[in-house]
Amino acid sequence: MVQNPFNTIPPRKKSLISYFNPNSLISDQYRTILTNLQFASIDQKYRSLLITSPGYGEGKSTTVTNLAVSFALQGEKVLLIDGDLRKPAIHNAFKLENNVGLTNVLIGNAVLSEAIHQTEIGRLAILTSGSIPHNPSEIIASQAMRDLMAKLHDQYDLILFDCPPVLDVVDTKILANECDGVVLVVNNGKTDKEEALEANKILSASRASLLGIVLNEYK
Ligand SMILES: Nc1ncnc2c1ncn2[C@@H]1O[C@H](COP(=O)(O)OP(=O)(O)OP(=O)(O)O)[C@@H](O)[C@H]1O
Ligand SMILES: [Mg+2]
Repeated sequence: MVQNPFNTIPPRKKSLISYFNPNSLISDQYRTILTNLQFASIDQKYRSLLITSPGYGEGKSTTVTNLAVSFALQGEKVLLIDGDLRKPAIHNAFKLENNVGLTNVLIGNAVLSEAIHQTEIGRLAILTSGSIPHNPSEIIASQAMRDLMAKLHDQYDLILFDCPPVLDVVDTKILANECDGVVLVVNNGKTDKEEALEANKILSASRASLLGIVLNEYK
């Protein structure tokens, strides 16, 4: 049996393989995705991208984290935002506190500059989810969220969003509509074809611009 090399790497290093192991084949694959995204934005510069997948555990957070790292290592000023207000994961990947983040800024309990974490990885900054609210969809759909997006677009070359599965949680459709482009992660072993097609249909109906599909855990 051939073991997936990804599974032999310790958890944090696994989430951030593009940083800790930039010469690996996996990091190279993330750079290929990045190049394809750059080709896709040749005529229209995409300043905000959302990464989603049809269901749970298909590799959204892992993909968005490594894409953020890859873009940052190419010199871009990147902000990675944890837009998954139900099951946030980005703070774990970067070993950050999550007491203050997106939700706290949106409700006016925290100042943006204090909520953003600068990392050691190029000009990569992180905005964690913040306190988990009881009304995540309302927060994502708020005017405050739209105002924040406009402000952040002026400050960063690229904003990347992690978010919940598009088939299960309405937040993703709302956010997809606010972002310039969407990348759909499809998991080789977990996502079934019908779900992938349904996710595509939902994203089109939300007037999201689907830039491409990442096939994760392809053996
Ligand atoms: N290409 C891969 N090879 C091996 N393991 C992977 C791969 N991609 C993701 N994983 C692992 O699968 C698990 C789920 O990944 P991840 O958290 O990125 O998924 P998710 O879609 O964000 O999940 P959720 O829907 O819960 O937010 C994690 O343990 C992660 O390390
Ligand atoms: Mg996730």
